Amino acid sequence: MRPKVTVVGGAGNVGATVGQYLVTKELADVVLIDILESVQHGKGLDLLQAGPILGYDCRISGAKDYKETAGSNIVVVTAGIARKPGMSRDDLLNTNAKIVGGVIDQIVVHSPNCILIVVSNPLDAMTQLAFRRSGFPRERVIGMAGALDSARFRAFIAQELRVSVENIHAFVLGGHGDTMVPLPRFSTVAGIPITELLAPDRIEALVKRTAGGGGEIVALLGTGSAYYAPAASVMEMVEAIMKDKKKILPCCVYLEGEYGIRGLCVGVPVKLGASGVEQIIEIRLTPAEASALSRSAAAVKELVEILKL
Ligand code: APR
Repeated sequence: MRPKVTVVGGAGNVGATVGQYLVTKELADVVLIDILESVQHGKGLDLLQAGPILGYDCRISGAKDYKETAGSNIVVVTAGIARKPGMSRDDLLNTNAKIVGGVIDQIVVHSPNCILIVVSNPLDAMTQLAFRRSGFPRERVIGMAGALDSARFRAFIAQELRVSVENIHAFVLGGHGDTMVPLPRFSTVAGIPITELLAPDRIEALVKRTAGGGGEIVALLGTGSAYYAPAASVMEMVEAIMKDKKKILPCCVYLEGEYGIRGLCVGVPVKLGASGVEQIIEIRLTPAEASALSRSAAAVKELVEILKL
């Protein structure tokens, strides 16, 4: 039997695109669940009908009733509102907290053993909410942010140096917001740190563009926020878990003293495998990097405190 992935908010831009990538890569059967009446059913059917052409046998369908999600191996939470131009991710806090809280209650009942991947923003606070509300062990509650932020950084580095994106590894720590902490000295092109290849002002410009990467797209779209790269990042995480790849990716997880942070969900490098987060990888930071990370953690803490998490 194929594994099952539920995508909550499956009628939406990120949710439906996650479904599309998962079936195209033949990773799982997919249920797109949403509060809407029919859109998720329409998108599910449309994607099912692309299968014969693209060559996938995975089933994909829309649903409104959580019964149809029962026994999912992974549940991806994209439910909530997206940013509009001029809004920060933090502006979504209260609205999305209500939505995500209700969603988590349903998931716990119908898929008590699943691994949760949280995508709704503000990401770190929503991951913390999902962790607290589900009562799942921290290994099974993972926020998607670092995979996306580092993909953005990689794309910009590749463009700047005119090399393949496949040659580039990038490292991003911290919250998914303006305070995120891209780490140039651990970001490499074919193993060579970018600090050897690019002038400091160019690195600074790429770091800045990465931190504002989501906002740049929000402004260009005019309505809604990015979804192709966020959905691809979710797919990368699902694949690492489904195939037990032990892949190291930056993800948002609940820290219990790692990097000097306790009781807070923040982005750090983790090893993703069949049981979810199998290891949190701690690297030694320079004082400047450490203080950037603690600034980022403080920004996450502010939101978490508003929600009393
Ligand atoms: N249960 C299920 N689905 C819900 C609920 C709920 N309680 N509330 C809202 N939704 C659905 C909406 O009906 C919509 O189809 O969530 C979907 C959100 O889709 P979009 O508005 O297209 O937003 P999207 O761009 O997909 O972003 C979703 O991910 O990246 C983050 O910041 C982004 O928080 C936002 C989320």
